Amino acid sequence: MTETINAAAAGTWTLGDLPVNRLGYGAMRLMTKADGSPSDRDTAIAVLRRAVELGVNHIDTAAFYFQASRSANELINSALRPYPEDLVIVTKVGPGRGPSGDWLPPARPEQLRGQVEENLRQLGRDHLDVVNLRIGEGLERGSGSLSDRFGALAELREAGLIAHLGISNVTAEHLKEAQAIAPVVCVQNQYGLTARREDDELVGLCADQGVAFVPFFAIASGTENAGVTAVAREHGVSPAQVRLAWTLHRGPNVLAIPGTGNPAHLAENVAAAALRLSEEDIERLGDGPATNGHVPADSI
Ligand SMILES: NC(=O)c1ccc[n+]([C@@H]2O[C@H](COP(=O)([O-])OP(=O)(O)OC[C@H]3O[C@@H](n4cnc5c(N)ncnc54)[C@H](OP(=O)(O)O)[C@@H]3O)[C@@H](O)[C@H]2O)c1
Repeated sequence: MTETINAAAAGTWTLGDLPVNRLGYGAMRLMTKADGSPSDRDTAIAVLRRAVELGVNHIDTAAFYFQASRSANELINSALRPYPEDLVIVTKVGPGRGPSGDWLPPARPEQLRGQVEENLRQLGRDHLDVVNLRIGEGLERGSGSLSDRFGALAELREAGLIAHLGISNVTAEHLKEAQAIAPVVCVQNQYGLTARREDDELVGLCADQGVAFVPFFAIASGTENAGVTAVAREHGVSPAQVRLAWTLHRGPNVLAIPGTGNPAHLAENVAAAALRLSEEDIERLGDGPATNGHVPADSI
């Protein structure tokens, strides 16, 4: 791939009234290196700035993305403020962590305002572009009703603290339930070529309704797959790039948010915005097994 690297090559999608390039960035990996040790702060800041230089204008984050000495929101604030006008920062609420990093019980409806305000303070914003209500614990889809919690967020949207709402780790039933309360601009679930393919239907449902589907672990859920290796070799790209291109190929409403703290991986991931897979490639890739793949145990 010799084209100029730019996230815009993936095309755009509009989250509510906020246009974004379909190739974005997830901030969960900024705090630690691949071996689990703390990231180098200057490198993390440089990765964020480089992402924006490469056309990324959709960053996914959360106040609960932190470890002892680094916080994703603080890094985003330090690296990118004053924020570019076209930058859309998507955060999520629901899970909570104490100061030592221990997981707290999921937030009750009345606790969500505090979580929204925590994101506002850390990001240095007076409103949040998009807030996902993330239900369920760990990587499991949530069960039961989300209406009380989503209703609480809808009130914060009415109050002007949030521009648009999304939901995460959900089923089609949750989407319907949330839409009865307020508009939903995005759904964020684990999903990838070889992971959670049971959500193929939900991706289509979101497409029909003009809702963005924003999978996490598009790269990380990857199990070894001969099809990926072969297609990557033929295109002269990496398996991670093939997985991202496959994600973007799922539909115009599907957005990629690959996470990395590694500058070379960042460039590689943004370059995947320009990678086009043929129908023959897709057919070969589509035969991959639908499994939950491998995901790091400490991820959320
Ligand atoms: N809603 C939710 O429940 C939820 C849950 C999890 C994550 N998320 C969001 O989704 C985003 C994406 O998830 P993710 O970051 O965990 O998964 P990902 O983007 O699928 O994969 C990230 C992992 O792959 C590695 N990687 C990235 N680019 C690579 C490349 N070009 N070649 C080889 N390895 C590469 C990263 O390590 P290096 O740092 O070494 O590159 C990291 O270990 C997160 O950042 C977060 O914002 C949301």
